[in-house]
Amino acid sequence: MAESQIALNAPENAPEELKRWVLGVAELTQPDSVYWVDGSIEERDRLYAEMVASGTLIKLNEEKRPGCYLARSMPSDVARVESRTFICSEKEEDAGPTNNWAEPAEMKKTLAKAFHGSMRGRTMYVIPFSMGPLGGNISKLGIEITDSPYVVVSMRIMTRAGTPAMERIAAGEYWVPAVHSVGYPLRDAQGNTRPDVPWPCNDEKYITHFPETREIWSYGSGYGGNALLGKKCYALRIASVIARDEGWLAEHMLILRIIGPDGRKYHLTAAFPSACGKTNLAMLRPTIPGWRVETIGDDIAWMRPGPDGRLYAINPEAGFFGVAPGTSEKTNPTALHALTHDTIFTNVALTDDGDVWWEGMTDEPPAHLIDWQGKEWTPASSTPAAHPNSRFTVRADQAESISPVWEDPAGVPVDVILFGGRRASNVPLISESYNWRHGVFVGATVSSEQTAAAEGAVGSLRRDPFAMLPFCGYNMADYWGHWLRMGEILGDKAPRIFQVNWFRKGPDGKFLWPGFGENSRAIEWALRRVNGEIGAADAISGRLPIRGDLNTAGLFIPDEQLEQLFALDPAAWAEEANLTEEYFAMFGDKLPPEMTHELAALRERIAQAQGN
Ligand code: GTP
Ligand code: SPV
Ligand code: MN
Repeated sequence: MAESQIALNAPENAPEELKRWVLGVAELTQPDSVYWVDGSIEERDRLYAEMVASGTLIKLNEEKRPGCYLARSMPSDVARVESRTFICSEKEEDAGPTNNWAEPAEMKKTLAKAFHGSMRGRTMYVIPFSMGPLGGNISKLGIEITDSPYVVVSMRIMTRAGTPAMERIAAGEYWVPAVHSVGYPLRDAQGNTRPDVPWPCNDEKYITHFPETREIWSYGSGYGGNALLGKKCYALRIASVIARDEGWLAEHMLILRIIGPDGRKYHLTAAFPSACGKTNLAMLRPTIPGWRVETIGDDIAWMRPGPDGRLYAINPEAGFFGVAPGTSEKTNPTALHALTHDTIFTNVALTDDGDVWWEGMTDEPPAHLIDWQGKEWTPASSTPAAHPNSRFTVRADQAESISPVWEDPAGVPVDVILFGGRRASNVPLISESYNWRHGVFVGATVSSEQTAAAEGAVGSLRRDPFAMLPFCGYNMADYWGHWLRMGEILGDKAPRIFQVNWFRKGPDGKFLWPGFGENSRAIEWALRRVNGEIGAADAISGRLPIRGDLNTAGLFIPDEQLEQLFALDPAAWAEEANLTEEYFAMFGDKLPPEMTHELAALRERIAQAQGN
């Protein structure tokens, strides 16, 4: 279709500026048609039907999983691609040493080539969306343009997408533009056509962010955070930049409310790296009597000082894009129940009766499955039936644990912040930071064993400060500086900071801590500290529970195992400190001096421990 013939089909209230931008993208990408997403059920069902017909989705057994679908991606497109993720700031130092940087004008040229004609033969969808409750003063709007109907139905679950968001944009509210193409046009410039495939994508991938102009361009992938641009690209990478400029925090954190036996409510946020247990903790079922958890968010928190000077958090998302493997009646019954209807599954296995299965769902695998690549599978197969990063996409309010306040636009006041990761050694089950500054140091020095949520060597230890390594839209050292400033603003109203590690292993290579619902015991200890009910023991990495204070009633855990969970080996910590010094060196003079002071204080505590 000639460029000038593209019909914009814009709704009547679309502002001129928005129409011009959409037209520009259409002229560049040359779709066959342009469609504006209204967010209706009819629209959703039409897209589902079209994707079933095209082979992108498999409709699951309507009796067993009503309203559920299965998508299988290409093996080359199964997770976020950090090596193809770019922060295109004017200055390289503003992206910092932990991000891939590209010169913005150069990247724009590269993108112009990649996107040129990339939507030929396809429909271009325009999705207005809100991150956070519509109209909330912490919420923000965006528009994603995409040529993937899978992205449209996913964005419908993960964000508030459609007409109400469009109305706010029409009224002149601020919005962030985001463009996505799978990079698989069905026609070339000469008019030669090719058939579509179930999971179109491109081997060449660019996930790009322009922090100064607050734009997102993503090319070549249809998967998760690469393609649902409201999530990591907007709510973390671009939002972290906005938050720095405006004095708030955009974080890779779950949010939960925990209610004690006395009815008192506390709010907690926790930063764990990808696939390290945020969804599980957000849906925690405490094993200690009298405690109850309500879910507010499982992946992202936007936090701002409120009128009373405390820090308030909202979940900018509307759904969960959670890791499927390991989700079971034992580990996370709440998630499992949420997935019984109206869920999109991606890269899990298909059972013979049209249901889903993944590793860890049941103790015994079914005798026969179709694996995530569409191949025959039996328990004798040498490869997993579900991809380790296979996921479910489900609306948040399908979780029975969802909090009645999860959509409160004002957010919830945060009492406690947890930092965690997967550490087989050294890091104790729980410790309390000495103060905010020490907490920032703890967050900055988190390292964790890598998971299948991104490309790379699974299991290898890497630094993942604040669980934000793949998601910070600017220089990581400046980000630490921003956290330090926020601590000054919050003063004595700042949340208390703790470090946790559910993943410590014994000499036999087994987890020392049962985890999951039992994690409530560590949280209970933190809350009793917040209430000033109990003391703590100063130690190398922070304040540890005094023997007997961690509630282990009803938990059969030998004393020796508990000791191993909290053991701090000064020599091993001296080595941690050396590695931290090396790590900090890469930030040069951007490193806040407070971090150097905290490292020195850590070394002093190590020396003291060695002296004893
Ligand atoms: P993203 O969505 O990738 O950001 O990750 P997430 O942090 O939400 O990950 P999720 O909660 O889905 O992590 C799932 C993995 O963590 C599974 O392999 C779980 O079995 C494991 N996991 C969660 N909680 C625990 C725990 O308390 N103990 C142990 N040992 N494993 C846990
Ligand atoms: C993560 O990797 O931290 C996720 C999944 O939450 S994705 O949205 O694909 O980034
Ligand atoms: Mn995440």
